[in-house]
Amino acid sequence: MVVKVGILGAGYIGGVHARTLRRDDRVNLVGIADIRREAAERLAAEVGTRALPDLAAVLHEGALAVYVTTPNAHHVEPVVAALEAGVHVFSEKPMATTLDGARRVAAAAARSKALYQLGFNRRWAPAYAFVHDLIARGELRPAMAHVKMNRGELQNPPWVSTTSLTGGFLYESTIHLLDMCRYLLGEIAAVTCQARTTAYQEPDGFAAVLRCAGGALVTFHSCAHATWAFPFERIEIFGPHQAVVTEEMDRVTVSPGLGREVTTRAYAQLPMEEKWGYRAEDAKFVDAILEGRRPGVTAEDGLRATELVEACYRSVRTAAEVALPLA
Ligand SMILES: NC(=O)c1ccc[n+]([C@@H]2O[C@H](COP(=O)([O-])OP(=O)(O)OC[C@H]3O[C@@H](n4cnc5c(N)ncnc54)[C@H](O)[C@@H]3O)[C@@H](O)[C@H]2O)c1
Repeated sequence: MVVKVGILGAGYIGGVHARTLRRDDRVNLVGIADIRREAAERLAAEVGTRALPDLAAVLHEGALAVYVTTPNAHHVEPVVAALEAGVHVFSEKPMATTLDGARRVAAAAARSKALYQLGFNRRWAPAYAFVHDLIARGELRPAMAHVKMNRGELQNPPWVSTTSLTGGFLYESTIHLLDMCRYLLGEIAAVTCQARTTAYQEPDGFAAVLRCAGGALVTFHSCAHATWAFPFERIEIFGPHQAVVTEEMDRVTVSPGLGREVTTRAYAQLPMEEKWGYRAEDAKFVDAILEGRRPGVTAEDGLRATELVEACYRSVRTAAEVALPLA
């Protein structure tokens, strides 16, 4: 069976998915839509499909699945409409830019027979998948972690400095590693967070402590104006005389115990689509459709990540610890 797929949003990440999906024999790209006709036409020509005006036209082409790759604040409406039409959805992160929006998507996903998968691509990145396996096999027993997710600027693409479109900086790159904390360390029980406003019109630097339900403590840092000097993304996890350190998605260093050999795995030379997990997340989405399986990143994951972002903002506003799940 061939899965007919349409894309809404012909920008940077729409292009990444379109080029990946084009190489999958199980996929027929039926069209690409964008509010900017010329963007849709450019990407459609590149990947050999039709430019379309909007989601309705994508559905009219008989799409069985749609990728929603529009700016953050424009995810909920098309996602809910597609799910209500019984069309499978791959939504770029974030799920929504408000808790209400995320709850609407989660409710629509629960009601629909169609699947919903969220674009937390890092879960499929070989570097993070390796750390996840170490923990799952009991070879790393996390007690403490230090997590950093910086961004160089809020300038590119231009809408990322507009809070009403992003939902706030934490919904941008930061949400990826908030999700990664949950993925690697389990549910987060409480968040304490402070913030500063330095380079933009909204809080753009955050220092948080996440208390995991399993007991681990995480110090979490995220800054929007760090420049792109490496490393901007790093996770350090410490167990009893154990340490694991990731640098971007390029390297993982493992120190398994005192007096034992320290090893480093390097993924730097992988193609970007593989190293960042994009190829795997797209393949898994198509697998899930064809095999009727639960997608790898679910609406529940999206809702919990939204709660983590909102808990950080609430803690900044109230100067108090915020317990999760949110009431
Ligand atoms: N998972 C990742 O690694 C990753 C990376 C980049 C972006 N993203 C996410 O993907 C989304 C898109 O980001 P981008 O960097 O591709 O942005 P972009 O600006 O490059 O592309 C967005 C496209 O959507 C179009 N658009 C805007 N509003 C629309 C609407 N209402 N209907 C149809 N088209 C519309 C724009 O014209 C533009 O072509 C964002 O939510 C972003 O957070 C995820």
